[in-house]
Amino acid sequence: LLVSSTGTGASSSSSSPLLLSVARGETVDRVPVWMMRQAGRHMNVYRDLVKKYPTFRQRSETPDVSRTISLQPLDRYGVDGVILFSDILTPLPAMGIDFDISEGGKIKIVPIQTREALEKRLRRVSKIDFRRECNFVGAVLEELSRGLVQSSPETTLIGFVGLPFTLASYLVEGKTGVGDNFPNIRKLMEENPDVLHAMLSLLADNIIHYACYQIESGAQIIQVFDSWAGHIDDEYYGLFCEPYQRRVVQGMKQQHPDTPIIIYMAPGPYSSGGRRLKALAETGVDIVSVDHTIDLSIARELLSDYDSVGLQGNLDPQLLRDGPMDEIRSRTLTILENIRGRKKCILNLGHGILPDTPEIHAECFVKTVQSFRN
Ligand code: CP3
Repeated sequence: LLVSSTGTGASSSSSSPLLLSVARGETVDRVPVWMMRQAGRHMNVYRDLVKKYPTFRQRSETPDVSRTISLQPLDRYGVDGVILFSDILTPLPAMGIDFDISEGGKIKIVPIQTREALEKRLRRVSKIDFRRECNFVGAVLEELSRGLVQSSPETTLIGFVGLPFTLASYLVEGKTGVGDNFPNIRKLMEENPDVLHAMLSLLADNIIHYACYQIESGAQIIQVFDSWAGHIDDEYYGLFCEPYQRRVVQGMKQQHPDTPIIIYMAPGPYSSGGRRLKALAETGVDIVSVDHTIDLSIARELLSDYDSVGLQGNLDPQLLRDGPMDEIRSRTLTILENIRGRKKCILNLGHGILPDTPEIHAECFVKTVQSFRN
């Protein structure tokens, strides 16, 4: 598949693509834009492919198919970042944990809730060869990287991983919809914290290794997702989420100090309104991805002690879905005005794009950002 458009002639002062330049703190003439979960569910061309390749694992683990889907939002909107079509669960089988995703997007994993199960099933990093067992991920990234350099050099290639707590919530619960209801992981926190710590530790080491594999295969930025950590109260967050976020970020930085890292947590009772922004900035990331429950200008104030940390965000995905277009345009312009002239800012949504979002709405968002001059 060919890449056809590169957005409105943005040129950065360096030879790096726009989004990567911004993430590194360089001054550019417009704000870069992409959308979380842009590859897949909301696009018509994606739904056509689903008919041909019915399971998510087929689509995400067949290099040609995954590459085609990754490029669809670039072809359609000229977004500034292409994200690998994959999932946070994709490296699990290489770690010894098989998973399945049904037609309706429901996750199935045989849950791990005891030390015996953990020791028997979750492999440690020294026993894992991602290069062999996730070779399709490296293959897609290498091809995307080569293709973008040739036909769309202004576009940045984004890789991603799930952080230990969010991954553990799937391992322990074994199913979808963990969001606000994870009874079994809460039980482990209270009754058997050592088992949970052992699981989080193994996941952290494995994820560092997997993220580095993505970087070595061509990913220029890595976004790390701790989507469900906003549902965990401060005490348990400090015990089970934060230390492992830091460990992953710092482990990646040790091996690839020049690859920018973006961190994201979904809105939840303990993260909404910017309550976890400082904690996220403290992990050592380059950019914090802000949800839509707070204005970016206020987020910037909350992070006044973290001047070197950039912001990504934060149009409400529901507004993007429902419109009207005038409102999408004016809300987007307000966000842009709020960050005007600031370094290290990336436009995105406050959470993933919703499946039933009309493509013309997404196009309106991207074009509004790309025609705004900083
Ligand atoms: O939404 C977030 O909070 C982002 C983090 C996240 C991803 N996957 C990243 C992703 C989370 C929490 C998941 C878990 C997951 N995996 C779910 C949510 C289930 C739940 O508990 O609510 C689902 C449905 C999957 C499986 C999956 N992942 C499918 C079926 C698809 C393709 C179609 C779709 O829904 O987009 C994905 C793609 C996916 N998951 C991407 C990312 C970053 C693809 C790249 C992109 O477009 O961003």
